[in-house]
Amino acid sequence: MTTSILYGRPPLVFDPPGAATQTSPLIPGSTALESLADGSVETAMVYAPPGVLERRYALAQALRALQVGGRLDVMAAKDKGGSRLKKELEAFGLEVGETAKAHHRRCLVIKTGSETGLDAAIAAGAMQAVEGLEAWSQPGVFAWDRIDAGSAQLAAHMPALKGAGADLGCGYGALATVVLRSEAVTSLRLIDLDRRAVDAARKNVEDARASFEWADVRTLEAAGDLDFIVSNPPFHDGGSEDRRLGQAFIKKAAEMLKKGGGLWLVGNRHLPYEADLNAAFKRVTPAGDGGGYKLFEATK
Ligand SMILES: C[S@@+](CC[C@H](N)C(=O)[O-])C[C@H]1O[C@@H](n2cnc3c(N)ncnc32)[C@H](O)[C@@H]1O
Repeated sequence: MTTSILYGRPPLVFDPPGAATQTSPLIPGSTALESLADGSVETAMVYAPPGVLERRYALAQALRALQVGGRLDVMAAKDKGGSRLKKELEAFGLEVGETAKAHHRRCLVIKTGSETGLDAAIAAGAMQAVEGLEAWSQPGVFAWDRIDAGSAQLAAHMPALKGAGADLGCGYGALATVVLRSEAVTSLRLIDLDRRAVDAARKNVEDARASFEWADVRTLEAAGDLDFIVSNPPFHDGGSEDRRLGQAFIKKAAEMLKKGGGLWLVGNRHLPYEADLNAAFKRVTPAGDGGGYKLFEATK
């Protein structure tokens, strides 16, 4: 029996339990909330994610897994869903104790067994075939119910690629699907930090040349054996953390490629990737510019 679970990494002021089972899909190797049996958990701490569907899904899953009388302790930054937490939990029929701390709202509830609406929240936030997208995806996954404009730009400008390659930050597999249209591609590693993205990609990309890895690109081992890499690296709102992520992707791509191998990269126009590309690659060619995005082909 799992006794204590944790979802995400709450700030230390909330005293996250050290020995709890981690259940965040964004932490490779963690246990999936979905895999926990009903009523098998004594206490749960959830650092609630910012998306509404994703958050209600995580809360409903945690409540489902809790035993009656078990405690759910949830917090979120005020402007990242925290101010809606209490209402959302009350909508499940729970009595909620709310406090404010460190720009967060924290809610404590005890499972009664009479909660309502858990199944509906789980269905709305689960992996699903997205209408109009013709793909499987899940709320919380990057651009989960649409084709990202940056990836679309890259897909439109890339030539047919050849040999062994990887898609760093593959999401639910939109770009990889286009890459695999080239018959000269012999293998493609789809890699993402988000388990939900990797699971969706596995369903979307049914191709014997594809393999799937739930991993952090920054800590991948690089063998320098790939012919090509495509990537629409994480950027979010262009904060400094995101910029560093993109820079780490570029460096890792250079390590993973063989000499002469090529990286096809799309970045938000405001992100200054040029210096990092020039430092890690022999030749960097702008490959298009439009719609707020810049494309690059970089050769090792
Ligand atoms: C801009 S999105 C591109 C997704 C996909 N190519 C698409 O077009 O839908 C970047 C992806 O990188 C993933 N990601 C973020 N940090 C990562 C990391 N450290 N290692 C691997 N993937 C990461 C995100 O989960 C997200 O799916």
